[in-house]
Amino acid sequence: MRDSQARTTYLKDYRPPPFTIETTDLEFNLYEDHVLVVAKLLFKPNDGSDEPAPNALTLHGHELELRRLLIDGKNLESDQFFKDDDSITIPGLSGLLEKPQQQFIVEIHTRIEPQKNTALEGLYKSKKIFCTQCEAEGFRRITYYLDRPDVMSRFTTTIKAERQKYPVLLSNGNNIGSGIDEKNPDRHWVTWEDPFKKPCYLFALVAGDLESLDDTFVTCSGQKVKLQIFVEEKDLDKCDHAMLSLKNAMAWDEEVYGREYDLEVYMIVAVDDFNMGAMENKGLNIFNTSCVLANPSTTSDSAFQRVEGVVAHEYFHNWSGNRVTCRDWFQLSLKEGFTVFRDSEFSADMGSRTVKRVEDVNFLKTVQFAEDAGPMAHSVRPDSYMEISNFYTVTVYEKGAEVVRMLSLILGQENFRKGTNLYFNRHDGQAVTTEDFVKAMEDASGIDLSQFRRWYSQAGTPVLNIIGNYEAGKKQYSLKVQQSCPDTPGQNNKLPFSIPLRMGLLNKNGIELPLRLKDEKVAESTDRVLTVNQETQQFVFLDVPERPVPSLLRSFSAPVRLDFDYSREDLYFLMVHDSDGFNRWNAAQLLASDIIRELQNCAASNSLQIVPPILINAYSGVLDAVLKPNELDKAMIAHLLLLPSEGSLIEQVEIANVDSIFSAREFIANALAKELEDRFAAVFEANSSDNPFKTDSGSIAQRALKNLALAYLVRIGSDYWVECCFRQFEEATNMTDQMAALRCLVNSDSKLAIDLANASLKAFYDKWKDEPLVVDQWFMVQASCQREGTLSQVKELLQHEAFEIRNPNKVLSLIRTFCGQNYIGFHHASGEGYEFLADRVLEIDTFNPQIAARLLAPLTRWKKFDPKRQSMMQTQLRRIKAETNLSKDVFEVVDKSTIN
Ligand code: BES
Ligand code: ZN
Repeated sequence: MRDSQARTTYLKDYRPPPFTIETTDLEFNLYEDHVLVVAKLLFKPNDGSDEPAPNALTLHGHELELRRLLIDGKNLESDQFFKDDDSITIPGLSGLLEKPQQQFIVEIHTRIEPQKNTALEGLYKSKKIFCTQCEAEGFRRITYYLDRPDVMSRFTTTIKAERQKYPVLLSNGNNIGSGIDEKNPDRHWVTWEDPFKKPCYLFALVAGDLESLDDTFVTCSGQKVKLQIFVEEKDLDKCDHAMLSLKNAMAWDEEVYGREYDLEVYMIVAVDDFNMGAMENKGLNIFNTSCVLANPSTTSDSAFQRVEGVVAHEYFHNWSGNRVTCRDWFQLSLKEGFTVFRDSEFSADMGSRTVKRVEDVNFLKTVQFAEDAGPMAHSVRPDSYMEISNFYTVTVYEKGAEVVRMLSLILGQENFRKGTNLYFNRHDGQAVTTEDFVKAMEDASGIDLSQFRRWYSQAGTPVLNIIGNYEAGKKQYSLKVQQSCPDTPGQNNKLPFSIPLRMGLLNKNGIELPLRLKDEKVAESTDRVLTVNQETQQFVFLDVPERPVPSLLRSFSAPVRLDFDYSREDLYFLMVHDSDGFNRWNAAQLLASDIIRELQNCAASNSLQIVPPILINAYSGVLDAVLKPNELDKAMIAHLLLLPSEGSLIEQVEIANVDSIFSAREFIANALAKELEDRFAAVFEANSSDNPFKTDSGSIAQRALKNLALAYLVRIGSDYWVECCFRQFEEATNMTDQMAALRCLVNSDSKLAIDLANASLKAFYDKWKDEPLVVDQWFMVQASCQREGTLSQVKELLQHEAFEIRNPNKVLSLIRTFCGQNYIGFHHASGEGYEFLADRVLEIDTFNPQIAARLLAPLTRWKKFDPKRQSMMQTQLRRIKAETNLSKDVFEVVDKSTIN
């Protein structure tokens, strides 16, 4: 058995690098079956280190063939250094250098085989395109280097390749020269120079036969920037949306953060095979095609919004990540949490703020809360890791973004902007820590954030238990607040957090009451932020004329579980009256969740199941409102009318009964559909206009509402609505409507729908088989089908001509969708879903460990399920763990998730 501890890296062991690399000169010679890399690195002892420069040089390197190694021009023989799987060490450095203790040049010749690189880290080939992915530790697969983010260097890169096959040769920075190879005119070269120092994880190279969509952006100081999106020729018609998103993001960052772009050119390249969504390499972002390409006929609205968000996210990294980078990978949230916060605010400004908030919080609560409650729980700034790739998590990203959001709420808009200005200016060109970020916020605002810092170091989701009490005689309303945080692996007995609790009080007419706390002379306002920073605390409000309904944790002001004993009437009331749109949605979710739980109990005790009128009234009220012109934001309505997802229902209880959650939820959805058929029909009709297709947020909202109504109507099961749905499938001119109809058909139990679904799936594939991203959606609808027998369907699809196990998009569409989103299918009582996932993880781990480890997540959630399922899930985790050749990535996950 491997020693987990020996394989672990700890934050407490951080030491500054012994050397810096001032300049990095790279030359790549690209051939069909290999690539030759020459790196010339100028080293200097690091002044910033407390320790004297050592007499040995150790560089990272992985799966490299070392051809030559020179120091200060002198060739090293193989007995002058030693190598292992991950590094090379040159001892006796002083004897080798021209000027010991000063700068020296190391020249490294390596040979690599990108064509055989299936892990998609380092330099690899995606179909015919050479491309790179160096974050977090991929650069060591290109050459020997100090592959750590606190080593920042000036890069110059020359790429040489065959002209015909690779007319486009790209790297970071500005193009400073190009030409034809004098000895071989079939080959050409281009040299790129990046004037900004950067860590090697931001290095990128692309070579291929690509076309580009070009545009320009003039920055606030008048600099002209060339914008280019490189894709295969067939995809040129799918780049406009990404380009528009990029220009919007550039303008937004100037306006909201005062951040200007800094190079002559900004390039985006799209490739099919990519482990992640996209990567922010300096001046040369590399994207998964799924996060760039968008066009109405092939792309659904949610994918349009994803493209906008990802393009913005990677652009924003130019400041939050590149100009100011991370000292070490424990600081990952410094760039990722902050940048997710920035991109979510951008999306909020581009569309509907409340809807964006609802979507983000829904995701956080179902996915991040689950991670925080499981065996992989870690703090926003983790203390240790075995494999850093496993720490690009929803905790580091989404909870990290929530932490920055809380800072912006606590500081207020003006101070927060002062804080970010100070942070960017103070640390420009540096590799820093989350502590440096908080310090800048503290220095700029004068607000003491000592207790707030615990959000970075303590894992787990805090629980706020709140009890309200009204004393009519005193006209006082009090909130008794208690906070706690569950133990997480390696962390018991947490200290209290500093939690911003945004709230208001509503009177019986839904009017907001002025909020005056004890010891205050006057009421500040009707909406305020209380600071909860002790284990128990009491807030007493004065001059409260009647018993109020409190609206708590408005806009989800902190990532906590809120426990307040609302009656159903209170929830209904908040759903109708709260001035905070987010809390209106939240009340609707709580109301529906409570009713679903009651129905589960009825089913368990074999008593009669009925949907309480309060829910029907709530839904019909919302439907009536949307039928009146301009009453409410349609996207918001669509969210208000959506029952809590199975994922969120599972998340809300200690031990989830997947089957009964599913049945109760289905029962209610079907009952609502039957009860409110007329209204859903009216909403469907009213929003089915054939206006020319647009992707502005209003049009997207209209389609969301229409398709929500359609989904309810198809539940009724009558041929009328099934046929109507089929007509929409056949006649749709955009992917959103077509997919929505297909999804309804595939999930309906009506006999007619079952027949139509099979025919439609076939027709859909025949129509779209040449569009890989559409085929991904086709895999997804089938993998998320809630009817019996989906697992065997998924197994069959693994053999389909369009399925490629080496393409991450395909794997995620089919396998992750089934295991991660299809609860009823994956958690089938037979345990076959678990075995299926374990088989796939073992298979994929042999060639792409990152994807294999990510796929495993659903099995690590075993704690949530009944003892029988827990034991079957454990069996599969142990089976994986018993495998001898596991990657570090998968090993870490199974090691932490298995008991005994
Ligand atoms: N820096 C990451 C990409 C990355 C992650 C590279 C992990 C290597 C390992 C990038 O900025 C990112 O966060 N991308 C996200 C999308 C974003 C909108 C949150 C992704 O790829 O999913
Ligand atoms: Zn990022």
